[in-house]
Amino acid sequence: MITKPRGTEDVLPKDSKLWQHIEETARGVCERFGYKEIRTPVFEDTALFQRGVGDTTDVVQKEMYTFEDKGGRSLTLKPEGTATLVRSYIENSLYANPQPTKLSYIIPCFRYEKPQSGRLREFHQFGIECFGAESPATDAEVISLAHMFLKELGLTGIQLNINSIGCAVCKKEYNEKLRNYFEGYKDRLCPTCLERLEKNPMRIIDCKSEICSEIAKTAPKMIDYLCDDCSGHFESVKERLDNMGIDYVINPDIVRGLDYYTKTVFEFVSDALGAQSTVCGGGRYSGLVEELGGKPADGIGFAAGLERLVLVIKKQQPDACSLETASDLFVATMGDEAEKFAQKLIFELRNLGVSAEQDLCGRSLKAQMKYADKLGARNSIVIGDDEIVAQTAKLKNMKTGEAVDISLHAEVLAKKLEEVR
Ligand code: HAM
Repeated sequence: MITKPRGTEDVLPKDSKLWQHIEETARGVCERFGYKEIRTPVFEDTALFQRGVGDTTDVVQKEMYTFEDKGGRSLTLKPEGTATLVRSYIENSLYANPQPTKLSYIIPCFRYEKPQSGRLREFHQFGIECFGAESPATDAEVISLAHMFLKELGLTGIQLNINSIGCAVCKKEYNEKLRNYFEGYKDRLCPTCLERLEKNPMRIIDCKSEICSEIAKTAPKMIDYLCDDCSGHFESVKERLDNMGIDYVINPDIVRGLDYYTKTVFEFVSDALGAQSTVCGGGRYSGLVEELGGKPADGIGFAAGLERLVLVIKKQQPDACSLETASDLFVATMGDEAEKFAQKLIFELRNLGVSAEQDLCGRSLKAQMKYADKLGARNSIVIGDDEIVAQTAKLKNMKTGEAVDISLHAEVLAKKLEEVR
């Protein structure tokens, strides 16, 4: 038997209502904030992520699904959405519209990680990106969107952590301090981090190895080295969050796992998950648009992992998992003629917006009624030769057992079902 690839999941019908609920909540919040949905390819030129995400990140060094197509091009399944959106923003000249450009997306992402609960090789993100606005008001608006989304999903025990990791100017000085610090632990760093020490010492802070993360705990913090501009920006973001009544914790250890971030970074963590507790992460990126060939423009956004949200919701709201829709009507039949009659009637009813079902497996009448029960149908009718002649049947409420006479004309039946819904 062929099984699903390691680190992937099937979303079964019993769960797909919950997924749709999360997606609809995301779309609803985005609409109120003026974010418009964008759809982009599942794979991109590999260079986009090497340059965009950064070639010293775990994502690029270890986790990308990269392949050569039949034309000899190196392509990569999207490990995240931001680089792709920047590419699309530039390629489609979206900067020519009144700024900022506010975009949202729901995408599959692929990372070759060690699978565990909440960490998959194929996972899904709901994200937003805002291009062309440098103001701290933008940071606060983006964070407030994520906050509202998580709140509308009814999640509890969520903490917002924020930090600033500075701009190109203050990062330079900080990186020197960091390099000096890690130099002292050269003999204990993992081989990847030894390489990072030269190229990008900040990445060491994000290393998943136990020894490196232990060493990183006492490393200098970026927040203590912010330049005046970055520090003023961060203060203003905090003031605005306070204004909106959004609680946060300043966490100087957040550096995020992707290279493009500058200034504000943030993560929403849940106390309902184990090691993989970050349900949503994001931040500002000031140099990425230019790095990928566009005219300088700031960007800021976040992405939330849908599988992790599903895990939290299932834990905190067990009833939300049984959001399956039940049919309005089950039509049971006796004999071939009745079955054909029922199929036409059901077709007409569905056309009128009614959800109706019949048996497709040749069950006996008794078994049909059992099946209707299992489907959770709200009402049923039984059609035999007599009902066809009379053009009426008994409409039975499956819960109360109450029955009323009803015409078998689709419009009359549909109206009645609407009344009793
Ligand atoms: P990220 O932190 O790499 O950021 O991922 C965002 C979210 O995706 C995480 O907080 C987590 O919920 C989910 N996630 C990440 N990896 C996995 C995985 N292997 N399995 C399941 N869920 C996962 C980004 O991707 C940035 N592009 C976010 C962003 C947008 N920053 C600015 N704009």
